[in-house]
Amino acid sequence: MIHNKTIDLLLTRKSIRKYTDEKPSDEILETVVRAAAQAPFAAQMCSLLLSRREGKIPFGAPLLFTICVDAHKLEQVMARRDWETASNDLSLLLFGLQDAVLMSENLVIAGESLGMGSCFIGNAPYRAESIIKHYKLPSRVFPIVQLTMGFPAENPPPRPRYPLDFFLFENEYPRFDDDTVAKAMKEMDDGFLAQDYYREADYMVPLEDGREETFTFDNYSWTEHMGRKWGQWLKSSKEILEQLAACGFDLTGGKE
Ligand SMILES: Cc1cc2nc3c(=O)[nH]c(=O)nc-3n(C[C@H](O)[C@H](O)[C@H](O)COP(=O)(O)O)c2cc1C
Repeated sequence: MIHNKTIDLLLTRKSIRKYTDEKPSDEILETVVRAAAQAPFAAQMCSLLLSRREGKIPFGAPLLFTICVDAHKLEQVMARRDWETASNDLSLLLFGLQDAVLMSENLVIAGESLGMGSCFIGNAPYRAESIIKHYKLPSRVFPIVQLTMGFPAENPPPRPRYPLDFFLFENEYPRFDDDTVAKAMKEMDDGFLAQDYYREADYMVPLEDGREETFTFDNYSWTEHMGRKWGQWLKSSKEILEQLAACGFDLTGGKE
């Protein structure tokens, strides 16, 4: 494998959940956001909301970005060209999401390159209404994810990832045999157990519907964690559709 500064930065990045009190300067802030804006885009259908409210940001970070899908801006520009959006909201959202997440990852990497760390926080879409109030968002702006950022006060190891044969499929998507899946699961679980990740976080996803706990921090690891999250949470789409509707996105049909 080839190593250079950029590759090594990518390979050693990890989420940071403890920050020093040091406040990033305005110059650092401007640098990371300008680098973020240079990400590839479909329609620049995204915006960054920034908060520097001391003591109010998760993990004690000095910066909190709320990354939004933003059709409002696009529609402002289109209106001045005498166009109205005809595209359906699901398509707008899919392209806007890509704009937003590409921008976010540029933000992460630019921050890393200046010695900062970061961590995404995923519940923004489910509390969109409170974010609308807080930032006075106009209709057609949907907060997709938040990102804490600042100078790290911890240095955890990079976290495990699936082996290459479980995510790179050349020419044809394979049909997985038990050995391939078992190997991928073992790599993830052994890796997280070796780092004592869940014991240090002191967190297992609670079992619902009266299911009995049989795991301890000696064997609870990433694949069980994923199973419990995605096997128990977010069963109904009602809540998220309501939040999207509050942001002015209607995913129930087209405009015809
Ligand atoms: C969309 C998204 C939402 C996330 N939400 C949270 C969160 O709410 N809390 C948290 O501590 N980490 C959150 N993370 C960070 C992941 O837990 C982390 O990226 C993952 O465990 C891999 O670890 P690494 O980033 O250190 O490689 C989120 C990451 C993404 C991409």
